[in-house]
Order: sequence, then structure tokens, then C-alpha cells
Amino acid sequence: MNQPIQISQNPDIRYLGRILGEVIRAQGGETLFRRTEYIRSASVDRHRGIAGAEAIDPGLDALSLDDTIAFVRGFMLFSMLANLAEDRQGVAAEPGATVAAALERLAAEGIDGDAVTALLERALVAPVLTAHPTEVRRKSVLDHKNRIAELMRLRDAGREETPEGDSVEAAIRRQIALLWQTRPLRTERLFVADEIDNALTYLRDVFLPVVPRLYARWEKELGRRPASFLRVGSWIGGDRDGNPFVTAETLETATGRNAAAVLSHYCDAVHALGTELSVSQTLAPVPETVTALADASGDEAPSRSDEPYRRALSGIYARLCATHVAIVGHPPPRPSMLAGEPYAAPADFRRDLVTLADGLSAGGEGQLGGLGALGRLIRAVEVFGFHLATLDMRQNSAVHERVLAELLRVSGVEGDYLALDEEARVALLRRELAVDRPLAAPWHRWSEETAGELAIVHAAAAIRARLGREAICQWIISKAESLSDLLEVHVLAREAGLWSGDADDALMVVPLFETIADLDQAPAIMAAYFALPEIAQRVGARGSQEVMIGYSDSNKDGGYLTSTWGLHQASAALTPVFAAADTAMQLFHGRGGAVGRGGGSAFAAIRAQPAGTVQGRIRITEQGEVIAAKYGTTDSAATNLEAMVSASLLASLEPEAKSAADAVRFAGAMDALSDHAFAAYRGLVYDTPGFRDVFRAMTPIAEIATLKIGSRPSSRTKSSAIEDLRAIPWVFSWAQARTMLPGWYGTGEAFAAFPDQTLLAEMAAGWPFFAALLDNMEMVLAKSDMGIAARYAGLASHIDGHDAIFMAIRDGWQRAHDGLLRITGQSRLLEKNPALEASIRLRLPYIEPLNLLQIELMKRHRAGETDPRIAEGIQLTINAIATALRNSG
Ligand code: PGA
Repeated sequence: MNQPIQISQNPDIRYLGRILGEVIRAQGGETLFRRTEYIRSASVDRHRGIAGAEAIDPGLDALSLDDTIAFVRGFMLFSMLANLAEDRQGVAAEPGATVAAALERLAAEGIDGDAVTALLERALVAPVLTAHPTEVRRKSVLDHKNRIAELMRLRDAGREETPEGDSVEAAIRRQIALLWQTRPLRTERLFVADEIDNALTYLRDVFLPVVPRLYARWEKELGRRPASFLRVGSWIGGDRDGNPFVTAETLETATGRNAAAVLSHYCDAVHALGTELSVSQTLAPVPETVTALADASGDEAPSRSDEPYRRALSGIYARLCATHVAIVGHPPPRPSMLAGEPYAAPADFRRDLVTLADGLSAGGEGQLGGLGALGRLIRAVEVFGFHLATLDMRQNSAVHERVLAELLRVSGVEGDYLALDEEARVALLRRELAVDRPLAAPWHRWSEETAGELAIVHAAAAIRARLGREAICQWIISKAESLSDLLEVHVLAREAGLWSGDADDALMVVPLFETIADLDQAPAIMAAYFALPEIAQRVGARGSQEVMIGYSDSNKDGGYLTSTWGLHQASAALTPVFAAADTAMQLFHGRGGAVGRGGGSAFAAIRAQPAGTVQGRIRITEQGEVIAAKYGTTDSAATNLEAMVSASLLASLEPEAKSAADAVRFAGAMDALSDHAFAAYRGLVYDTPGFRDVFRAMTPIAEIATLKIGSRPSSRTKSSAIEDLRAIPWVFSWAQARTMLPGWYGTGEAFAAFPDQTLLAEMAAGWPFFAALLDNMEMVLAKSDMGIAARYAGLASHIDGHDAIFMAIRDGWQRAHDGLLRITGQSRLLEKNPALEASIRLRLPYIEPLNLLQIELMKRHRAGETDPRIAEGIQLTINAIATALRNSG
């Protein structure tokens, strides 16, 4: 019997891989097992240089369609188990990425706890979950994976039995067998409601318990209680840019479900405190404030008459139940025996809890971290309110324009708004904002689009009234490119009273700048915005303003290097604009998992931000597969939130390392590099005839659109132009074809043309921004493979010029590769990052056969073969390759 060959140095991978092999043999049969082993060992030999590319082919050729599907599932599961094992070994955790390490570093620079606490007073650090469709795995599959991780922890602890009394080893085997028997692909498309449910599992089961625990840890490390600066956001149910299925109803569903979850968590927590706080007034001093709360509770039970904390908690519980009824519409599963007034706001609930806390700790609020569950509950109320996560709204500027044009036309204010130039639009919108009235007559039959937008605005206002302003704060404008784009949203918000009244009533309007040209213009647009007195007054009262910057679209527009530099420069150039307006700048980074979409280490990315741009305020999107990878378990969530917070502290408080002179030299170099990279990238992607067709033929872009991984359509319009394609499928399909050009194309040309290679090496060694740019690119270069890409290019052989286009890609890769090695002084990729090198090396032999099968299946599919197993096989390979590459979407 063939023994599985040595798979990895990592003992967990070997252990899980062995069990998977046994499961495949037991469930798939000896033949499938042998064929899988044959291909695997041939591929490993090839990657070790022992065999050539042809070694794999006989194994693949021997697979029937049914075998192919089973084989791909096996490789996919292996990759998933390898991910799990790696995450356990902390391959993903970065050294020094903790708050304790950051405090130590800052202390060494003479920055003490007071400075940190002061920063946190005005800080906001927030991950924002989005439903961007890059998660290919089903929730059921992820759940099995998490259970295996749990069991592996028991195994580490030397336990032979689970708490339920099963054998740990047998339970792991059972979970892997279940994975083998679980369909990896969705058969039904996803609805927004599914996405809302999915996000809720992370918000409720991970963020809600983890965040208060982290604060308690930081409180100890800081030696004082920090403000509640770490919050959680979400786009799910509110991001309707290009997604017609996101409506007023989904906004209601998302906020309603979040509120129900957080209130029921509070009910349970208060109930548990009632059990815990059995303090008798005969045995401990009880302050008057607590007695008053107890007396007002209506709890007259004789058994508790000497237990004021319990009596007070009965009253709090009753009010919480009433709040549940008021907000959710029905009482919680364990209704209160007492009557109570609903809490009008989370602050009122918090006040009651603080009264108890003050009573318990003579030291007052400063000691809350020492209060255990009560301290954590108070923290949870500060962070999560009655809304759980702040939900943003997002829509495209083009939609706002059309809606406003209809509103103005029907109400007789303007004939054709769309025909006005920018100056006239701004003047008109300002005249509108100077008066307080709605434009939309409720009896008019508005177009579907306008009716939908109006319904959303009204829903947002109702939600804010019910759950508090924190429930919805931002309205984000995709493709923002002018001042009128911002003012249009204020006028739309006015329809539901979200403009007039006190400054806090106004929603924050957030432009998302996402092309190279728009990023260039961002500072001027914001300066013009702040210069309007009606805006200055509102922004001044609020004290801060957010600007969102888009990584993916700027990358698709201008290539990796130009986009990365453009984002950096726009951020730096916005800083003085905000300083002049005396307003705190809050940058919101719209980044995905793949490097072509701003992916890579968040810790390094935040630390690499230009000086003065963070200042304690930062929001970052967390999308698709990144959500499960970072927040799949409470442990990984804690690690990643620590990393985000510690990087934010360092980026805000650490003194700038490079001198002003270096900054000028480095920026000059980046400008020159960016010009070259831009010309090379645009020349290939937008100016080469036939490029678009080659891209469509050589990647599985068409097949990706059929994956049921998100509720939104894969394209905003019917056009096939690259400009109109969403960035996700663009990046995702290049990753599948192992080309990954969004992560590097153009850099090689720029490096080669740059006259002073020593300066580039100096920048790589001494400038976190450039180091991060190179690191991310290096990972992508290491995951791409021009040999495999060439086989994908074969799918485009019917297109004129395909050869020249592929040669340009291959030469570009080589130049990028050579340039990177030269600058970083390495003789091979990842030479200085052995952990990542080992991780990628382990995966490559598993990915190549999947690529080869995918190409074969695409050929047959495109030749018109209709066997449904072919389409299924393609989808499975997409799924498996994405799983193995880890950050491809
Ligand atoms: P968007 O996102 O298409 O939703 O703007 C782009 C991305 O994150 O890739």
C-alpha cells in the first residue's frame, strides 16, 4: 500500500493530512485514493525539481469526470486543513503586533500612558464588515473547520476526551469525514438576508464577547481605563452600490436583527449578574445610590429584601425587557415579572450599571476593569449600544445624480439638473440646503430608482430615531468626483430630516475617491466642501469628517504601484486641508484580501500610513474570506483586533522616522516610479488592442460570475469594458489564472528605468511604506506562476495578438521579479521571509493540478460540452484554488 508521502514539516498538517487521506480512502474508495496520491506525489516531485511538468499529466488524464470532482474536493479540503494548521501555528500573527508591545515601543520613545490615553479619548478604530463577494466557502464548511480547530486545541492540551465524553481523535476524524460529505458549493444564490445572518454570527458570537475582554486587557496594560475607541461597523444590508437587492427593507432587517441580538445579549448578561451579585446589605456597606435604584425597581421579593444589587438588577432587567419590546417588537425569551419603562438610550442603561459598579468599587469608574462581568457589560454598552454595529449606507454618485434630477424636475425647481455644469449644480444645491422642506411629494409616482432611494432615506431616519444615531452615521458615495456629489447627498438626506436640526441630526456624507484622477482631486474637493459655511458649521460641531479611499478601483485604473502611491499621497495631501478646517480627519480604507485590492498585512499597512494621517482615527473594510480568516474564532479575532489597535497607536504617536530631506527624496523617486509604472500598466491593459478579449478568454472571469458567492451582480452594467468591470472579479480571475497582474504589473518597468538603484534599496530598508509595497508584491509574485499562466493563455489562442500580449505579461513578471530581488538584495523570492516561503511552497504542488484541471474543463465548457459536471468541476476548481491561495479575492 502506498504510504502518503511526507507532506510538511508542520506536524498538524501531517496529522490532519493523514486523516484526510484515510477518509478519502474509506469514503471515496481505494482507486480514488491511489489516483489522488499519484497526482500529489508527481506534483510534489515537479515542484522539488525532480520531475518535469509532464509528470502530472498522466494522472490527470486518468481521471473521469466523477473522479475529477472528487479529486478537486480532496485537494480543496487539504488546503483548508493546511490553512487551519498554519493559523494555529501563528503564521498569520505578526511579531510585535500587540498593544503591550506598542506601549513598550512608545515608552521607549518617551511617549507615556497619558499621551496614549489622551489620544484614545478622541480616537475611533473600526473594522467594517462588508459582503463583498470573495468568500467561496459555505458557512457549513467553515463551521466544520472551526470545530476541528476547537478539537485540535483539546488535543494540544493532552486531552483524550471532549467535554461531552467523545474521543478527541475520533471526533476529529468524524468532522473531517463530515467535511468530505458536505457539498462545498452553494446550489442556491445568496440573498442579502443570508449575508445579514452570516455577518450577525460574527458580530454576536465573536465581536460581542471578544471586544470587552480586550478592553479589560488594555486597561490593565495601560494602568487606566481607556475610552471606548474600538467600534465595529458593517455595510451588510446598507451597501447598495450596484446591488439592487439592498433596499430599505434590508436596512431594516439588518439593523433590527443586530439590535435584537445585542439586547438579548444584555438581557442574559443582566440576568447572570443577578445571580452573581448576591451582596447583602448586612455584610457590606451599600451606598445610597444603589439603595435608591433597588427601591425603585419594584422588586419586593422577601428573599432578596437585604440584597440591593439583586433588587436593582431586577429593575434594570425589567427596563431592558421593555426596551426589547419597544425596539424588537416582542419580549425576550425570559420576560420580566416586573413592569419597567424602556430605556430611551444606551446611556441611560449604562448609567444604572455604573451606579452598581460605583457601589461595588470604592474606586469608582477608574476601577471598572476589575469588576469582571459588570465591567465587561458596561464596556459592551459603550461599544455596541442598542445597535451592535454601525451600519453605513453606500450608493453610487451616478444614482444620486439621477434621483436628484427627478426630484428637482418634478417639484419644478430645475428643468434638467443633469445638463448643468458643476458650478451651477453647486449653486442650486446650496440654495436647496438653505431652505428646510422636502422635495418629494408623497403622492407622486416616482420612478423605481427614486422611490427606492427615498424609502432608504426614510428608513435610515426611522432607525436612527429608534436605535440611536450611532446605528447609522455615514452615507458613502462611490465614485465621488466633485463637490456636487457630496451636496446631492445632503439634499437627499434632507428628505427625511437628516440635514436640518442640530448638527448631529445630519448624516455624515463620505466621499469615496477611487480612481487615480479622483484621488488627485480629493484634497481640492474637501477644501471646497469645508469652505462652505453651512458645511463648516456642521462639521465643526461634529469635530471630525471621514474620507474613504478605494484600493481596488484605483489599482484597476492605474496599476499597483501608482495606486498605492496615489492613495498615500492623497492621504498626505488631505492632512493640511483638515488641519486648516480644524477638523479631525478620519480615513476609511476600502481594501480587500488580495494585494490587487489593498490586501496584505493590516498591521504593516496602518503603520505605513503617511505621518499625521491616522491620529487615532481609522476605519478599514474587512471583506469576504478575510472575515473568516481574521474573525473566525475568538482567538484569531483578538489577535487581529490587537494588531489593528497597536498599529493605529504606533501610526498616531510614533515620531516620523525619516528626515524631511529623505521624505522629499523618497517622494521624488516614487513620483518617477509611478509615472513609469502607470504608463506600462495603462499601455498594456487599456491601450493594447485585444487585451480585453485575451483577458476574458484566458481567465475564468465568465465562470466566476456564475459562482453563488454573493447577493450582488458581478457587474454594474452590461458593458464588457475593463473600466466597467467590478474590481473583485478582475482581481479574482487573474489570481485563478496564476497571473495576478493587478499585484505587480508595471513595477518591473518602473524599477528598471529608475536611474538610482541604491536609492531604491535605501527606501526599502528605511521606509515602512515602500517596504510594505514590496512585501505585498513579493508575496503575489511568489504565488503567481508564468508557466501555468502560459497554459491559461493557450485558451486565448484564437485571438489576434494573444501571443504578444502574453509575452508582455511574462516579461513584465520577470522584470518585476528581477527588480524586486535587486532592491531587496535577495537571490530568490521570500528568501528573507522563511515562514511565508514554507507556507507557499507547501501549497504550490496542490494548486498546479487544480489549475490544469480547470483549464481542461474550461476548454470543454467553452467548446459547448453540456455535461453539468463540467460546470460544477470548474466551480469547484475555482473554490479550491481560492482556498489554497488564501488571499485571492
Ligand atoms: P466595490 O469594491 O466594487 O464594491 O466598490 C471594490 C473592491 O473592494 O474590490
